[in-house]
Amino acid sequence: MLIAQFSDTHIKPEGQLAYSVVDTHQMLSHAIDHLLQLPQQPDVVVISGDLVDAGSVVEYERLENLLDRLTMPVLMVPGNHDDREHMRQVFRAHPGISTTGFWQFALQSDDWPVRIVGLDTVMPGDSSGVLCSERLSWLDAVLAQAPDTPTLVVMHHPPFITGIGHMDDIGLEQRHAFTKLIGQHPQVERIVCGHLHRHIHALVAGRSTLTCPSTAHTVQLDLAPDAAAEFRMEPAGYLLHWWNGEQLVTHQVHAVDSPGPYPFFDESGQLIL
Ligand SMILES: [Fe+2]
Repeated sequence: MLIAQFSDTHIKPEGQLAYSVVDTHQMLSHAIDHLLQLPQQPDVVVISGDLVDAGSVVEYERLENLLDRLTMPVLMVPGNHDDREHMRQVFRAHPGISTTGFWQFALQSDDWPVRIVGLDTVMPGDSSGVLCSERLSWLDAVLAQAPDTPTLVVMHHPPFITGIGHMDDIGLEQRHAFTKLIGQHPQVERIVCGHLHRHIHALVAGRSTLTCPSTAHTVQLDLAPDAAAEFRMEPAGYLLHWWNGEQLVTHQVHAVDSPGPYPFFDESGQLIL
């Protein structure tokens, strides 16, 4: 099973750039082109929040038009830039989503050895991540339903301190409660997040926990507690989570046009020196 992860696509209305710099629509379109040219096509794409920039229906409609080019199922969770009610208006057919309440799902398929659980960490009007007791109880219950199925948890706000101060200021508030809960469910293989617009790795309850690069701009790498809130245009990317029959293995992919591939060996089988 191959799971692709996009994150922080931040789609804007037509003709608008994010922060007056970033053509997020064009960059997601390019990332989709890149993914569609992979030698192995993912079974499913997950998007870990900040799908659009200002939570408007017109932005979700533009996103939907881009995602229509993908032939595999697309699953998504909201981020702090999203509006879950406007998401519902556009993505009515999203599997596992109820018509009201939090945007959460737990999906399993006979074709998928990995169960995918999507978690809603959004508090409207607040950029921080929140897991209230209702959401933590829901997560505990759905994980208890399939204790033997390897599970991927998708959420926007990462449950660890990243060191990028202005982002940690709007991090996940209940990370200790989340960590304790995950510790009780050993089948959770990987926790994958967004929010940071960079690839960062940490252990949470002993489980590999990642943030995904954005398909657009990258949060500036500066570990000073008072670092300025800035971004730069590093190579955009996405992640591929591959189930090898025993464990999930994550590959980072740069969604850029690069020269190659070049052979290591010549036609007679000799290493090219
Ligand atoms: Fe974002």
